[in-house]
Amino acid sequence: MGQLRHMLRDDDVNHDEQKQILELGMKFRENRFYHRPFEGPQGVAVLFDKPSTRTRSSFSIGVAELGGYPLVIDKSGSQLGRGEPISDTTEVLTRMAYALVWRTFEQSRIEEMARVATVPVVNALTDEFHPCQVLADFLTIAQFKGGVDALEGMTIAYLGDAANNMSNSYLLAGAVAGMHVRVAGPNGFLPDDAVVQDAEAIAATTGGSILVTTDPKEAVRDADCVFTDTWVSMGEEDQYAVRSKPFWPYQVNEELMALAKPDALFQHCLPAYRGKEVTAAVIDGPQSVVWDEAENRLHAQKALLTWLIGKQRGDESLLV
Ligand code: CP
Ligand code: NVA
Repeated sequence: MGQLRHMLRDDDVNHDEQKQILELGMKFRENRFYHRPFEGPQGVAVLFDKPSTRTRSSFSIGVAELGGYPLVIDKSGSQLGRGEPISDTTEVLTRMAYALVWRTFEQSRIEEMARVATVPVVNALTDEFHPCQVLADFLTIAQFKGGVDALEGMTIAYLGDAANNMSNSYLLAGAVAGMHVRVAGPNGFLPDDAVVQDAEAIAATTGGSILVTTDPKEAVRDADCVFTDTWVSMGEEDQYAVRSKPFWPYQVNEELMALAKPDALFQHCLPAYRGKEVTAAVIDGPQSVVWDEAENRLHAQKALLTWLIGKQRGDESLLV
């Protein structure tokens, strides 16, 4: 029996489901053509209301490698960008495409799409969450640290703008994975209580834990992986002046990295701003795995799409 599932935020999958998707991601790492659920080719619509390099390329190439046809639509080239209602756009696309992928602003917009869609909807970044990125980041930990089973019980630290989409996604996805998640940022740039409470409730069921702090050293001490992100997210470009100053103590530099485990990984979703949220010595240094992380967007998203389609079709063979 098929089941329509979406990936709008990281906790749309439970612990076992997240593991299943990551295991599938490991299979796609070994064999780019492991499953081809969109053979036909079947179309997948990939919509962008914000710029993108990695998400655009990984979904375009990924859908093609899954046997499908990626229809990439930018805001400037769509009626959505001229004010056509989300529900009307979705009614049309859902009759043609086999999955809908969307990068947009408020989370409520993609939730509206999912209410109307009769095919899986995937969040390719909103102001609130970036679940595809964190799947890729966890796949990268699995790649370097002994497989998907190794994630449970690990300590991850995220530093910088702790109120942004990446911070929220690490909180939720890390809790789902059973990790000890620490996020650190300055006052005024800490996550919303609602997200922290959701993450804590999940962590209580998976053996993970959540720490939100203004102390960067407390966050990184003995961590297995350190993450950061830009201090100025897409849509906040007019806030450069006010945003830089409070974040300096959270810059990931060699001194802070030295507090993490000696074999800790460094990851950054990219694009990175060297000399701001991370020093060149760290991002271009021996602990950095950012290029594998970027490559893993391809494998993780192919796994996610295959899993969602497997669920919708009730085809168990696509889930492993
Ligand atoms: N990390 C990430 O989502 O990159 P793009 O904005 O280039 O897609
Ligand atoms: N927080 C960043 C992530 C970019 C992939 C942004 O939203 O711009």
